[in-house]
Amino acid sequence: MRVILFVALPSEFPKEYANDAIEIHYTGVGKVNAAIKASQVLKDLDPANTIVINYGSAGSNLEKNKIYKCASFIQGDIDAEPFAPKTQTPFDELIYPNLKDGITFPGTGLTCCTQDMFEKNPVGDYIYDMEAYSIAKICKANGFYFASFKFISDNGNTDDWEKNHNQGVATFKEILESLVISFLIKNSPDGGTVDTPVLGTGAERRESSNLSWGTKPLWAANLINHYLNKTKTKNYLEIGLWNSGTFNQVNADIKDSVDPDISTNAKFGVTSDLFFKKYAPKLKYKYDVIFIDGLHHTDQVDKDISNSLKYLNEGGVILLHDCNPISEMRQRVPADFDIWEHGWNGDVWKSIYKFRKNNSHLKYNTFVIDSDEGLGVIIPNNVGKPLSTPDVEELDFEFLDKNRKQVLNLISKTEFFDREFKKEKKPKVHFITFAEGTHRSTGYKFSETQKKLIDSIQSKTKYEVVFHTHNLNSLSMQPWFYKVKDYPSTFDSEWWKRDGYLCAYKVFLTKQVLDIADEGDLVYYTDSSAYYKDPFVENLDRFFKYVEYNGHVCGAVGTDCRHNSFGCCDNKEIWSIIYPNTTIDFEKMLNKMHIVASWFCFQKNETNKKFVDEWAKWFEYEYDGLPLARYHHTVDQSIFNMLVYKYGFKVFFDDKNYHEENKNHNAVHQTLNSEKNDNIENLKKWFYNPNDL
Ligand SMILES: C[S@@+](CC[C@H](N)C(=O)[O-])C[C@H]1O[C@@H](n2cnc3c(N)ncnc32)[C@H](O)[C@@H]1O
Repeated sequence: MRVILFVALPSEFPKEYANDAIEIHYTGVGKVNAAIKASQVLKDLDPANTIVINYGSAGSNLEKNKIYKCASFIQGDIDAEPFAPKTQTPFDELIYPNLKDGITFPGTGLTCCTQDMFEKNPVGDYIYDMEAYSIAKICKANGFYFASFKFISDNGNTDDWEKNHNQGVATFKEILESLVISFLIKNSPDGGTVDTPVLGTGAERRESSNLSWGTKPLWAANLINHYLNKTKTKNYLEIGLWNSGTFNQVNADIKDSVDPDISTNAKFGVTSDLFFKKYAPKLKYKYDVIFIDGLHHTDQVDKDISNSLKYLNEGGVILLHDCNPISEMRQRVPADFDIWEHGWNGDVWKSIYKFRKNNSHLKYNTFVIDSDEGLGVIIPNNVGKPLSTPDVEELDFEFLDKNRKQVLNLISKTEFFDREFKKEKKPKVHFITFAEGTHRSTGYKFSETQKKLIDSIQSKTKYEVVFHTHNLNSLSMQPWFYKVKDYPSTFDSEWWKRDGYLCAYKVFLTKQVLDIADEGDLVYYTDSSAYYKDPFVENLDRFFKYVEYNGHVCGAVGTDCRHNSFGCCDNKEIWSIIYPNTTIDFEKMLNKMHIVASWFCFQKNETNKKFVDEWAKWFEYEYDGLPLARYHHTVDQSIFNMLVYKYGFKVFFDDKNYHEENKNHNAVHQTLNSEKNDNIENLKKWFYNPNDL
């Protein structure tokens, strides 16, 4: 299950607030931006396996600083009368017949009115925003589940928006977690409905809120269904049926129940001991989930666990209720008080402790989720966590209370959620190439090399390659092109001539691709050289493996070319702009090796984004009334050089290769493939911080 969260601006909900399992995408402001981003993100996703959520600030007459759920969406600023009433798009039924009933989703919620203007006079209890309708429409048209949550930042006052728009973060974080839990676990009793307004309750404050585990606990039924969703067969056994409250919510192919109280109508109206002795051996099947919720006395629970293990299918799970009593009284056995008045869990917790202590902890993963009275989980999967508590004479409540985390291997529902739904993402390689025109003396078309690179790369790597293929025409359509199209050419000499905009493509394309790549993806740039015309002839995986390990490789160096060779990067003033307030000895620096950036690779992460943003910043930086970019090599070589030294980033160095040879995109791969194997130690030794060379 993938959870996609669309937010217009990072300030409204910064990435670090979201649980790892949630993929946040920032759309930018307005309907068009939101539609572009939502289509890009959702185009290859499976609606049956994806939840789409939108969150953001909004204006309304409703109370400020509260979060409301929206379930209907209209466009506030469309007016095509008489072809359709205001707020409705005419002729939609021709193109999107499944939208004929409007953009609404199941569950309660208000109406969100989306428009490309800031609403200064909100009416009724409409909620005004600038993105939700677009995302909702895409979701509705393509069958995605969608919910939108709006934080009322203002009643139409732009100053209020500025002040408040980022104030809903903490509350929404809680709502998001609860909501996602209830959705990820199919058929949850809470699935699909979140009251309006939805207010955060604070963390899981059981003491003060008397058995309330946050806004929406993970109930036993949620957990049972969750595990049943994962198993091939779906055979369920509940020990202790009572009023079937849980049982009725369970979705399984075979549903058996055991309870000696015949008024419960359990399939097997006997004690669990008798069931396992007399009936279970005759069954033709075993169970995938067994829920132990019968007699809450530890001796009985011990027996229920060991019997259940015998009737569990491979891959099956045992769940136990009432594992985390909050008071001494609630775990007292026998219960010498009115359990209906005070609540009672019995001493099931001791069975969890004993099971962890006595059974090879390496064979069973045993833990308790801090929700719904403590949900115990025993998974026979050869992965366990050693019990770190001291041996004790008597298992009393004080011992539990002091050592809950260790005794029960207690985790919060958020931790559980993280473990279960964290995706294992394989990084993709984003391959950037650019080619335009012909070589000045040979007339060779750069696009010929570009084509060879593109045609060969996928056969040389097991990583999925995403292509970003450019020429001048495609550059001219990039949002940043207007900034650089009038940049002056550098140097007058025909030989060294550099067009301003052609200098810009590396930095801006790299920045752009890093922005859209998923965290952890690799962004790989290679020149379409007129000298090194071969396709990729070497396998690239050792190189990508190293980049995944190190985070980047910023081109290569050769001993024959220094910053001051051929005046390539010898302007000390520019060094001092990029290295401000430093005592660095520039004379020495100029004698260090000059980096050739004919190819480089960055993994998407915060440090690399900072590096590339700085690269772009200096590119545009005005110096002597002109952008720094006017210098020969300043952008596509010199600034890059200076930053690699400044950040201490790694470059490839093989003393057999001279500067020119490093322009060969096959060179680094040749060297790495000459190693005996791809152990990281073998790969590491070819990459250096150039300051150390
Ligand atoms: C806590 S209730 C079960 C609640 C139910 N599982 C639910 O989630 O709604 C405990 C039930 O266990 C049953 N019980 C008591 N002793 C039992 C035993 N030895 N074997 C099986 N069930 C037993 C009781 O009759 C009672 O109905």
